[in-house]
Amino acid sequence: MPGKLEVWPTWPEFTESKGEADPTGSLLKYKQEIVSIYGQEAITKAWLKVCKDLETLTEEIAEKGTSIIPEVKYEDMLTLSDEKREELKKRGCFVVRGVVEEKLAKSWFKDVKQFYQDNREYIGGWPEETPYVLRLYWSPTQLAARSHPNSLKLQRILNEFWHDSPTNPTTSPDPLSYADAVRIRPPKIPFYGLGPHIDAGSLCRWADPSYRSVYGKVFSGLPEELDLYDLEKRKDAKQSMDGGYHSTVLRAYQGWTALTAAGKQEGSLLLYPDVKTTIAYVLLRPFFSPPEKEEDIMDASKWTFDISSGWFPGTFKNESQRAAPGSHPHLRIRECMVNIPRMEPGDTIWWHCDMLHAVEVEHLGEQDASVVYVAATPTTEINKEYMRGQVKAFLDGGKVPKDFGGNYTIERDEATFKGWIGEKGILSGEEGRRAAGLVGL
Ligand SMILES: [Fe+2]
Repeated sequence: MPGKLEVWPTWPEFTESKGEADPTGSLLKYKQEIVSIYGQEAITKAWLKVCKDLETLTEEIAEKGTSIIPEVKYEDMLTLSDEKREELKKRGCFVVRGVVEEKLAKSWFKDVKQFYQDNREYIGGWPEETPYVLRLYWSPTQLAARSHPNSLKLQRILNEFWHDSPTNPTTSPDPLSYADAVRIRPPKIPFYGLGPHIDAGSLCRWADPSYRSVYGKVFSGLPEELDLYDLEKRKDAKQSMDGGYHSTVLRAYQGWTALTAAGKQEGSLLLYPDVKTTIAYVLLRPFFSPPEKEEDIMDASKWTFDISSGWFPGTFKNESQRAAPGSHPHLRIRECMVNIPRMEPGDTIWWHCDMLHAVEVEHLGEQDASVVYVAATPTTEINKEYMRGQVKAFLDGGKVPKDFGGNYTIERDEATFKGWIGEKGILSGEEGRRAAGLVGL
């Protein structure tokens, strides 16, 4: 099959006994609240529709594999037809090629690797034993990748895929430069830490009234009418229960910019290349219990509406939403998590914040697989508030931004690192400075 995993990795399965404990019944209450608002009948109607849609959709993804992920040249993103834009929105993920010249991306890689080597003793990362998602936020390479004129232009275009209230908009597509980590992944070391998951809140999708309202159509029995680009609803959604391991900003699209070439089995990314039906399924799944007989599992009509427990499969308060073949069988995850196409330096990949994705276990290539995480982050009140703290961390010696600071014991300032250039690293003049939060907040 093109682009799918030949061997399914030993990523965790999710069962009720190993789920988030619910001693006070607060999780159960979220389910009860949703049922009291929308009703069992509407939720069941949605469940049957979504599982039905998944039959054909999973068939198509399994057959097409990697080739289902659209690829667009950077120049063509500037003159997108309405049809093409709708196609990209519907799929929810796509590659944009050549956002940065290959030569420049390669030089960025050389620089960031040097920066890392020069300051290695102060830079931790994840996983702890063999860090490769580096706790580094303000290197010259990262500042440049976030603020390169082409990248900013593209971020704006992607933010414009979303829409706010036509009469009373309180947001804008002006991009904000969310400071995230950098990845320098050496070959030959397997990594099991990031199986299929969805970022941007887990339990919040059910627990937070604003977030839940984004998916009102799903719970109302009309999943086909779900609009995943409605910023009016999502702009106030709370992405983290207790400020745990989540990004607290709304990213219209998550993404990264490749600094080195990487293809299948070279430590790259896997996507579940559908967003609307998948997220609807993940949202409905906690309201149903499977039939006893194994052979009935894929028959959605044999599942029972059941809100007797507070178990949300694959959901833990302070982690990203997870999914697995056992707990989410209709997604046929084993066949539908597909490799992204081979990426060259300067190419970018983008995926909607509701999309299931995973990091490849294997890196069998010969060179580092390196990317800078650069998302499309629109200007909203919540995002601006975060950016005020982020810019303070930057100006205050290059500290770890809040979303990445939760579990650190050692605070260190990047401004003391060899090679630090601070604000000089920001490209695109005023536009870059505005995106970085240095002006206009
Ligand atoms: Fe992720």
